[in-house]
Amino acid sequence: MPSIAIIGAQWGDEGKGKITDFLSGSADFVVRFQGGDNAGHTIHSKGVKYALHLLPSGVIRDDIMNVLGNGMVINPESLIEELNTLKALGRHPQIAISNRAHVIMPYHLMRDQASEDTQNIGTTLKGIGPAYQDKAARVGLRMGTFVDKDLFAAYLKTYYPYVKGASTETPEALIRRYAPIIDALKPFVQDTSVLLSEAIKKDAKVVFEGAQGTMLDIEQGTYPYVTSSSPTAAGIPLGAGVAPKHVQKVLGIVKAYNSRVGEGPFVSEMPEKDAHIIREKANEYGTTTGRPRRIGYLDLVALKHAHRVNHFDAFAITLFDVLSGFESLHLVTGYRLNGTVIDYVPAERETLQACEPVIETLPGFDEDISGLTDWNALPDHARQYLQRIETLTGVPVGMVSVGPDRRQTILMTRIF
Ligand code: GDP
Ligand code: IMO
Ligand code: MG
Repeated sequence: MPSIAIIGAQWGDEGKGKITDFLSGSADFVVRFQGGDNAGHTIHSKGVKYALHLLPSGVIRDDIMNVLGNGMVINPESLIEELNTLKALGRHPQIAISNRAHVIMPYHLMRDQASEDTQNIGTTLKGIGPAYQDKAARVGLRMGTFVDKDLFAAYLKTYYPYVKGASTETPEALIRRYAPIIDALKPFVQDTSVLLSEAIKKDAKVVFEGAQGTMLDIEQGTYPYVTSSSPTAAGIPLGAGVAPKHVQKVLGIVKAYNSRVGEGPFVSEMPEKDAHIIREKANEYGTTTGRPRRIGYLDLVALKHAHRVNHFDAFAITLFDVLSGFESLHLVTGYRLNGTVIDYVPAERETLQACEPVIETLPGFDEDISGLTDWNALPDHARQYLQRIETLTGVPVGMVSVGPDRRQTILMTRIF
């Protein structure tokens, strides 16, 4: 069974949507396995811009089955809105929603706001953390329960007092509010683990699409400034309901520099005068929240950490066109901590906060590379930058993205 995982190697927004779309041309399935509408995946195709949050990036091709896996947390109202937007754009996506995925209700959004008031993680306020909290506490609402009106009413009767937070909405009002949404979503809810296993037996081509990124992983990221799921490759078997051996290849999506939205340590953060240039050039504002993204030099310490936990077969380097025009380019090759240089990401936030970047400077390039589709046509200094990343991480660069459009892509080897 040919399969590939698209994994964010940094703090999210690496361009996973674009790469998923590029590689899914010949795919049968595109599968989301974690997260919810905290994600914002942008795709430009044939002059149309799609901003996806819950739906897998295969939805802009009508012949692909898009699976919302059991590891996701799904806001049904957002999902309906997204489906309607796609329909208005002339798309008729095929979707399957796991009956084991958890449901985000209005009270999760309220609880997210309430915990932000004290904790200040800088979440997207989409209710993600509280929905995963309920899942782990074994009081969560799952899709299979939600779309059965009797089971939904029984769930609310038993659990609502424990999960509602400060919500004053009555269970009856919730039932009325969701009745039409349940009718609309019910036909798509099924056991997607069975659906995928059957397809895998028949040699279907599957793309697993990560949301967020490795440094936002609840286990391996910059805790507590992380999301509440596992966007690493390890999250796929759990969140898609497939065996680990069915994840064949792992592609690490790496923005040519770094960006981060939300609070938390960011060792490679660059001076605002350069950050500003990149932010405006690449429109580095959150797709989901509109917040300006923090910008940094490419952090190879964090990338090596990401490679250790994901074992990437190759990197796709994205937004490389954005780096043209800088006299020099910078890579963070180590962290200086109390006078010593380290090459790992410390676990404790206080320690990470105390790290200073060790910076290697390389010559920049001026040429506009956004129309190139051939590695050999890249300017020498551009190739040097990519080769340095390969040398220092040990991961080959298999693809380079030089613009948001599907066609603005340099493919070095056949990846999928
Ligand atoms: P994702 O969350 O990883 O899917 O990434 P986002 O969609 O949130 O952010 C990436 C942004 O960069 C989007 O606006 C994309 O359209 C855009 N993009 C993707 N690849 C490239 C690229 O190679 N060059 C440029 N200039 N923009 C890109
Ligand atoms: P995509 O899929 C970038 C960040 C938030 C916050 C932290 C926790 O587009 O790459 P949450 O709402 O998940 O509890 O917020 O995670 N975050 C993202 N940052 N891209 C994303 O998704 C993100 N999803 C969550 O900003 O710092
Ligand atoms: Mg994004």
